[in-house]
Amino acid sequence: MKPGVRVCVPSAAVLGLFCRGCLSRWRSWPGRSFSSTSREMSRWNSQDTSPPSPQENVRVLITGGLGQLGVGLAQMLRKQYGRDNVILSDIKKPPPHVYANGPFVYADVLDYKHLRELIVNNRVTWLVHYSALLSAVGEANVALARKINITGLHNVLDLALENCLRLFVPSTIGAFGPSSPRDPAPDLCVQRPRTIYGVSKVHGELMGEYLHHKYGLDFRCLRYPGVISSNTPPGGGTTDYAVQIFHDALSTGHHECYLRPDTRLPMMHISDCHRATVEFMQAPECQLSLRTYNIAAMSFTPEEVAQEIRKHLPHLKVTYNPDTVRQTIADSWPVRFDDTNARRDWGWAPAFGLEELVSDMLRSIRDKRTSEGLPVS
Ligand SMILES: NC(=O)c1ccc[n+]([C@@H]2O[C@H](COP(=O)([O-])OP(=O)(O)OC[C@H]3O[C@@H](n4cnc5c(N)ncnc54)[C@H](O)[C@@H]3O)[C@@H](O)[C@H]2O)c1
Ligand SMILES: *[C@@H]1O[C@H](CO)[C@@H](O)[C@H](O)[C@H]1NC(C)=O
Repeated sequence: MKPGVRVCVPSAAVLGLFCRGCLSRWRSWPGRSFSSTSREMSRWNSQDTSPPSPQENVRVLITGGLGQLGVGLAQMLRKQYGRDNVILSDIKKPPPHVYANGPFVYADVLDYKHLRELIVNNRVTWLVHYSALLSAVGEANVALARKINITGLHNVLDLALENCLRLFVPSTIGAFGPSSPRDPAPDLCVQRPRTIYGVSKVHGELMGEYLHHKYGLDFRCLRYPGVISSNTPPGGGTTDYAVQIFHDALSTGHHECYLRPDTRLPMMHISDCHRATVEFMQAPECQLSLRTYNIAAMSFTPEEVAQEIRKHLPHLKVTYNPDTVRQTIADSWPVRFDDTNARRDWGWAPAFGLEELVSDMLRSIRDKRTSEGLPVS
């Protein structure tokens, strides 16, 4: 236990009886009609009303698991809970190395019954909800994105309540807007985001917290900063320059940045993001004073990351051609995250600062390029 972290002795009431409360309270939740499946439901109600024991094996299902974050999180969870206890799912075909490394199943978050079948048949206890529509597609096709992001979230919330799951849903720096305090943004403050992405994330935070307070759902949410990783290509989001710049530095030596040189945003190395998620999921419920936490590691500007890269590659040239849409979004987001609650409640501490991030990114992209036979500058 790290110093300064809240300590609590989980009582039997918290551990054992919590879920029973969750089950019985859930029956009054009017969110779902089970008319077509009433037979299944009554069986479930009469035969399985005993709460799972606190020692019950952790069995994780990750939705949208083939995006930037899912595969690495599964890897970290499998090290702790065993390969077969962490199931990745998505609607696309897994690449060979993912398929070979542990259970993978097809799961569309819009298919409620199939998702329920997966949870029941696999005795899932934790659900990590990563599915989303790619950002570029998401802002362009709002109707489809709304379906996948919001209906998908509602499905997962109801299933978590129904099956007493511990549910993780990621939020983002994009859940804040121009009227939020920006330097730093605390956990609790005005949230009036101006992007559809931000609006749907605030909706997720509030729905989860509502179901927690009203029905005891074990909902957990982290607001991730921009996540930086070497093994997934940048996808057109507002923080993606901070990935592209490394690829450019090692290939052409020139990066054209779509943000102004002084645009400061919170960022995090992907391994810190995974570790934060795992440690937060492992925290005993009684240690959590909130259900949605900011997590921070570093904040930098394009100019600062370029300067740090130049310590390794002095020839890097960066030009600036701000894109109005992305610049306006970035200007409405926090400059820094205040994560003192996460540090105090469950011991959050990042391992990567800017210096470590830059050396690690350059090393791994260089290795990848070398192994692919590409030139490295
Ligand atoms: N990556 C970041 O920097 C970052 C930062 C803050 C928050 N987040 C959030 O974390 C979550 C995961 O991020 P990511 O970068 O891995 O996302 P991603 O867009 O890379 O991956 C999302 C995955 O969801 C899948 N998907 C699409 N429709 C689906 C459906 N109907 N059913 C099931 N799966 C479906 C896609 O195939 C894709 O593999 C998202 O909610 C995102 O908003 C990410
Ligand atoms: C859905 O999520 C994606 C990525 O997380 C985002 O870019 C998009 O704007 C979101 N759209 C809606 C309507 O929530």
